[in-house]
Amino acid sequence: MSKLSITDLDLKGKRLFVRVDFNVPVKDGRVEDDSRIRGALPTIQYALEHGARVILASHLGRPKGERNDKYSLRPVAEHLAKLMSAPVQFADDCVGDKVKAKVEALKDGEVLLLENLRFHSEEEKNDDGFAKQLASLCDVYVNDAFGAAHRAHASTVGITKFVSQSAAGLLMQKELEYLGRVISNPEHPFVAILGGAKVSDKIPVLNALIDRKVDKILIGGAMAYTFFKAQGFTTGKSLVEDEMMPTALEIIKRAEKANVELLLPTDHQVVDSYDPLKSKKTIPVEFTNAGLVGLDIGAETVAHFSQALQDAKTVIWNGPMGVFEEKQLGFDEGTIGVARAVAEAADRGATVIVGGGDSVAAITQAGVADRITHVSTGGGATLEFLAGDELPGVAALKDK
Ligand code: 3PG
Repeated sequence: MSKLSITDLDLKGKRLFVRVDFNVPVKDGRVEDDSRIRGALPTIQYALEHGARVILASHLGRPKGERNDKYSLRPVAEHLAKLMSAPVQFADDCVGDKVKAKVEALKDGEVLLLENLRFHSEEEKNDDGFAKQLASLCDVYVNDAFGAAHRAHASTVGITKFVSQSAAGLLMQKELEYLGRVISNPEHPFVAILGGAKVSDKIPVLNALIDRKVDKILIGGAMAYTFFKAQGFTTGKSLVEDEMMPTALEIIKRAEKANVELLLPTDHQVVDSYDPLKSKKTIPVEFTNAGLVGLDIGAETVAHFSQALQDAKTVIWNGPMGVFEEKQLGFDEGTIGVARAVAEAADRGATVIVGGGDSVAAITQAGVADRITHVSTGGGATLEFLAGDELPGVAALKDK
């Protein structure tokens, strides 16, 4: 890695500002999925073992520059303290005199989590004044927030102009190493599985994967319906981005030309849009009529996708195969099926990388997380990195 690492820094007695991505689901004051918090533990532990005074800062949700208790990081501080079996102090803002006083009082080996950075609109504006205020809290800066590295914000980019040292944390390094390997030197056959609602979110990564000569792309989730409709299939009331249909056709053509196999679902789970609670059934995709809405891939598609992974040596997966996240609807079988299939590919020796909130949740729900080579903490950041974009939060760090 060309960037300075936390391991290159002298941390003894230093006030270390660590930008983490603690943007985790919180419900009724409880953290529902702590993978991102666990992901940052090695960096925090490393800093503590080397005598630093650790100041943690993160965003949570999109509070639009205003204080909003719903997006407070306080429950995260409590959760982190449990994970570390050590006290974690909390400051109810991220800048200002009171925060400064708390930072000043920190002793070597102590941890302080600041309140949500996005309670200040200047954070997302990458405002220099705000970045300077954040920088004034610390001696050295580490960015471990891989999940937010695609955002050019005050705490990820601006701050680096006002600190003497800016380095990558251990999670950031690990993410860049695994994903970097996939981009620069993947072992073939290389299979990408993409899902989620929108084709528009996935175009850069689809194009980059085709350019990089991925061998197969498996498409599930609502984004498949834009591909179907573009090819003249009836998609009923399923989610389609009409304006993306020409792009979908373009992608099909590019894949054909590059000899990339593009696989779409052959069957899907649908409901009647007029009787959604009672009418769930699995049908071949071509049997879809005008009143039906597709909400998940079917068992035959799961079997096809698993088959397509049989000889895979590299697999990346981002995005659910259906409305996995709407637990009460009960359409999680397709996504869970794919979670099992990628775990089996990993068991056969493939390098398997899974990113994106829902895919990672599916891996956890299926109980296969420990069989996956690398579970990425990034959603948008992983996609942008795989699309070949330079992440501003990484670019801003000091070179070695
Ligand atoms: C994410 O969840 O992908 C990151 O935390 C970034 O969040 P954002 O999309 O709200 O900037």
